[in-house]
Amino acid sequence: MSPALETLLLPFERGEFAIPSKALFLGAEAHPALKTWPDITGWQPWKPMAEAWKKEGLSLCAEPEGLWPLVLLLPGKSREETLASFSSAYDLLSPGGSLVVAMANTAGAARFEKELAEAAGNIGSIQKNKCRCFRAVKDAGWDADTLEAWRGFSALRHDEVTGFQTQAGIFSADGIDPGSALLAEQLPKNLRGSVADLGAGWGYLSKAVIEKNPNIKALHLYEADSRALDCARSNLAGESVPLEFHWHDVAAGLPGKYENIVMNPPFHSGQNTDVSLGRAFLRSAADALRTGGRLFLVANRQLPYEPELERLGLVWRKVAEDSVYKVIFAERRMLR
Ligand SMILES: C[S@@+](CC[C@H](N)C(=O)[O-])C[C@H]1O[C@@H](n2cnc3c(N)ncnc32)[C@H](O)[C@@H]1O
Repeated sequence: MSPALETLLLPFERGEFAIPSKALFLGAEAHPALKTWPDITGWQPWKPMAEAWKKEGLSLCAEPEGLWPLVLLLPGKSREETLASFSSAYDLLSPGGSLVVAMANTAGAARFEKELAEAAGNIGSIQKNKCRCFRAVKDAGWDADTLEAWRGFSALRHDEVTGFQTQAGIFSADGIDPGSALLAEQLPKNLRGSVADLGAGWGYLSKAVIEKNPNIKALHLYEADSRALDCARSNLAGESVPLEFHWHDVAAGLPGKYENIVMNPPFHSGQNTDVSLGRAFLRSAADALRTGGRLFLVANRQLPYEPELERLGLVWRKVAEDSVYKVIFAERRMLR
């Protein structure tokens, strides 16, 4: 349970804020205390957290809509995403309703509280667990220009150079990731059968696979962030290769088997480097590769993935590297 979640619920537990008849939770994270709330609906684009929320028997919406007397918010990581979520929360509040936000100090809580205060007027705040929890009420005092500017951050972006659609908060929203570009350059043109793209993001690697291999049987995109997957759907619309989009936690394994897998595995959980997530991606890939199947991956040079590939019984070779990234091809060899 994150300290920000504990801090968010603290004023309700202490009876300082009343629990209303219904509430919306943006960036919803499960907490046992929420089960006692009369009616709480969550919105959560991150698959593992959405699953944890549903497991608690709490209701989840695909897109938040309607008006709510209370909106709880645990914002995402980027500045634009956070400000966009303030304006979305405002739009989802009924007049007189409350927005309650909690953030870790290390995520810039004081700075965002100040930005919200400048837009909303007076806001109340508490500090606990190295986090801040702050509340703003929807009244006539909000600054319309600031709200409009923040709404602009939630709009879909169309990159003028690449033509790709992205959105604030998803991986590499500002353009093509250089590691993925290095892998795309190296991808062979002789892929056959079904291909999976693990952690597909907004679809850059999938697009590169199709451009070089228009005759593959199918391409399956696996991604935990539903917003990125929606962008990928749009970026790959009109492709003739059969496509399947899976809102899925790759670390939990894959439901299918593939001749080829491409990936630029994530190696961060929150602010920290987390090699175990990348390793979990390798395990899921190795399990899902058919015999003779090939894995094409890019990673930061310092990440120790080679011993894991060997442990998983894959034969690997490094095909390219630059000052930051390495591209590795691996294979599940036929048994002799
Ligand atoms: C390094 S990015 C690569 C994105 C994309 N393939 C590209 O090249 O632009 C890793 C992606 O994995 C996704 N991801 C992280 N954890 C995941 C998980 N457990 N299951 C599925 N996708 C995940 C992230 O949202 C992100 O889009």
